[in-house]
Amino acid sequence: MIEQLGLWALHRLDPELAHGLSLRALNAGLVPLPGPVTSARLATDIAGLALPNPVGLAAGYDKNATALRPLARSGFGFVEVGAATPRPQPGNPRPRLYRLSEDQAVINRFGFNNDGMQAIAARLAARPKGGVIGLNLGANKDSADRAQDFSQVLTQCGPYLDFATVNVSSPNTENLRDLQGKAALSALLGGVMAARGALARPIPIFLKIAPDLTDAELADIADVARAAGLDAIIATNTTLARDGLYSRHAAEKGGLSGAPLFEKSTRVLAKLSEVTQGQIPLIGVGGIGSAEDAYAKIRAGANAVQLYSAMVYQGMSLIPRIIRGLDALLARDGFDTVAQAVGVDRKDWL
Ligand code: FNR
Repeated sequence: MIEQLGLWALHRLDPELAHGLSLRALNAGLVPLPGPVTSARLATDIAGLALPNPVGLAAGYDKNATALRPLARSGFGFVEVGAATPRPQPGNPRPRLYRLSEDQAVINRFGFNNDGMQAIAARLAARPKGGVIGLNLGANKDSADRAQDFSQVLTQCGPYLDFATVNVSSPNTENLRDLQGKAALSALLGGVMAARGALARPIPIFLKIAPDLTDAELADIADVARAAGLDAIIATNTTLARDGLYSRHAAEKGGLSGAPLFEKSTRVLAKLSEVTQGQIPLIGVGGIGSAEDAYAKIRAGANAVQLYSAMVYQGMSLIPRIIRGLDALLARDGFDTVAQAVGVDRKDWL
């Protein structure tokens, strides 16, 4: 009930202010946190990372790695912070974050506002022990060589990370998504994998893709990912599509996330699962708001999942609810592990 009251109050405020306050409340210990949530059925491995459960926090909630300690106790099986760019940058002018309450959705056009890789690396260096923490890598808007930016952030922050994600799928940095094309992506990943190889402790590298790609583009990405030796693909980022929305903010520019993204991102996930044939682990993200949604992503082909927007509407108590609910759904259907359920419904989404 206290959470309901807190959410009610936050939703009366400007969304970006409310977002900042939610991080403060976390750090002040005002949000009850469950600690690790795991079971023999939920514990799973992705790209060599031992996860207590397969439900992770998606990038963009803790852009500056300022809430690592409470997030490590929030129940999430893994936490992705960032995006971080080499130099600090302010992002786009405000307002740039919208709640679409009628649609259980969010539109953002932040444009990689962040404190820059040095400040973020210092916070990561003081991270809590235990827990699986990764960083979303971004590029500066005014960079002369954006591909190089990803390697730079990885080199700076890599020593304190369990994984890093190459994010070429944000719709809010002009032309960034062009880096998803075959030649550009292949060159970019070559640089990132070299930077990874130079780390004292090489970490898994993930690639995050947009939901607005054609089947041919997805097949190209799978080829490049395989050739580069990528450790996992995260599908998907926010969408430019605006189908079937009711909220008055529906026409705002930016990336749409939350419930209306579920079907589109799950179709992309299933398609990727088909073209990669289980050779590359997949992380499904987009519109998860319940245990049933998380389970559906796994059955469509995800080895693990992430979420963000649903927390805006349901609060942090949603996390253990989804994880325990997922455990019960797997048990109901006779699965002893998450891996056994991966992709069993893939065909239904193609
Ligand atoms: C995001 N997302 C995002 N993704 C990313 O790779 N780097 C980023 O910096 C951000 N920033 C960001 C800010 C805000 C306000 C939102 C709502 C989202 C995308 C996010 O990680 C996720 O892919 C999508 O939001 C889809 O998942 P949900 O929110 O529907 O569960």
